[in-house]
Amino acid sequence: MDRIRIVGGNQLNGVIPISGAKNAALPLMIASLLTDDTLTLENVPHLADVEQLIRILGNHGADISVNGRRERQGESYARTIHFTSRNIVSTTAPYELVSKMRASFWVIGPLLAREGKARVSLPGGCAIGTRPVDLFIEGLTALGANIEIDGGYVNATAPAGGLIGGRYVFPKVSVGATHVLMMAATLANGTTVIGNAAREPEVADLAKCLNAMGAKISGAGTGTITIEGVRSLSGARHRVLPDRIETGTYAMAVAMTGGDVILEDTDPSLLDTALEAIRRAGAEISATNSGIRIVRNGPGIRPVDIVTDPFPGFPTDLQAQFMGLMTKAGGVSHITETIFENRFMHVQELARLGARISLAGQTAKIEGVSRLKGAPVMATDLRASVSLVIAGLAAEGETMVSRVYHLDRGFERLEEKLTRCGAHVERVSD
Ligand code: EPU
Repeated sequence: MDRIRIVGGNQLNGVIPISGAKNAALPLMIASLLTDDTLTLENVPHLADVEQLIRILGNHGADISVNGRRERQGESYARTIHFTSRNIVSTTAPYELVSKMRASFWVIGPLLAREGKARVSLPGGCAIGTRPVDLFIEGLTALGANIEIDGGYVNATAPAGGLIGGRYVFPKVSVGATHVLMMAATLANGTTVIGNAAREPEVADLAKCLNAMGAKISGAGTGTITIEGVRSLSGARHRVLPDRIETGTYAMAVAMTGGDVILEDTDPSLLDTALEAIRRAGAEISATNSGIRIVRNGPGIRPVDIVTDPFPGFPTDLQAQFMGLMTKAGGVSHITETIFENRFMHVQELARLGARISLAGQTAKIEGVSRLKGAPVMATDLRASVSLVIAGLAAEGETMVSRVYHLDRGFERLEEKLTRCGAHVERVSD
């Protein structure tokens, strides 16, 4: 199994290209099931999660080609992928496939809307909390679906004439359930209004693509989304928006090591809150024509308290990385996680590098130390694993990160991007 070996101590200087967003690409790919026409997505990152979803969509009958070549032959960067689901050959998403990635549960929306039925295994995913599906079930029920859970599967059926537009106010913000309800409502009879919708940029990106396919959605990116159902959707061509989590991760890496880096092909307005926290930690951040420049020279890292929140708050997907940064701050900081109940698995691994962190409920107290020392550490989930890379970049000596498959789920060519900026990072295959 691959490991990542980091020898810390180098500053980062240079240019890092930011990939398309994993968390936009996944729902966009799933939206291709809504039409019998071809959906072409540009700027799709090459990640294990994308490959897994390609397998899942293939199981439903999607014909998928990468840059005009067949799936799995294209290794190029920022790929263009064509998805054509002329016929849905199966409305069942089996446990063996869904258990590997939570987002694959989201096929329930398009399958139900287009075929009138779906049988989808309860999901798996990162071990960051219980992550139930009650909000999906309530939301789809509000569109007239009949839903039963049986033998680990969610069985959903639409009324004879198809889903019916309805009104649903989420009791809690959910990105995935917002995606699913929005997709399902595009083909419902009548108008759907979603209240307390997730406002994440990935939701707005999905709505933009669905509208290009002929849907009638307004308000995506705000707390209220209105969807006027249409009879059918057509194909479209859509470019996946930049990955704000990857952007924030590299910005934090530069704040950690010091240096001067341009993050290219990204947009600072996607992560204002996180960039503000990095600024307060002592880095200079400015917008460039095509991205962000981040500089930290001289003074050390300042302690900053953060609380995770749904967009536009500080993203939970950057919490672990920010903790990595705070381990070397000149003082005490506090990080409170409000989205997931078990997203602190990086704490004990960061401690192996010499970090001083204590946990009280959902808040971590980080007492910054002047030096971290390299050690063997283990990746436990996607974002936790990259926090170890950030800490390793600033630790003395060698840090060896095992279980790298977590990193490969969400960071495209991480070692290449960092090495080009002067870091000593390599993949070691056993
Ligand atoms: N929740 C429920 N019931 C539901 C659905 C969600 O209680 O039916 C809870 C969850 O357990 C969690 C909270 O609501 O406590 C928010 O979960 P949400 O549904 O928003 O998360 P998600 O859609 O499963 C997406 C991202 C996550 C990201 C969260 C929050 C994708 C593929 N995943 O997950 O990304 O952390 O939104 O922003 O978009 C990652 O990329 O590493 C990752 C975990």
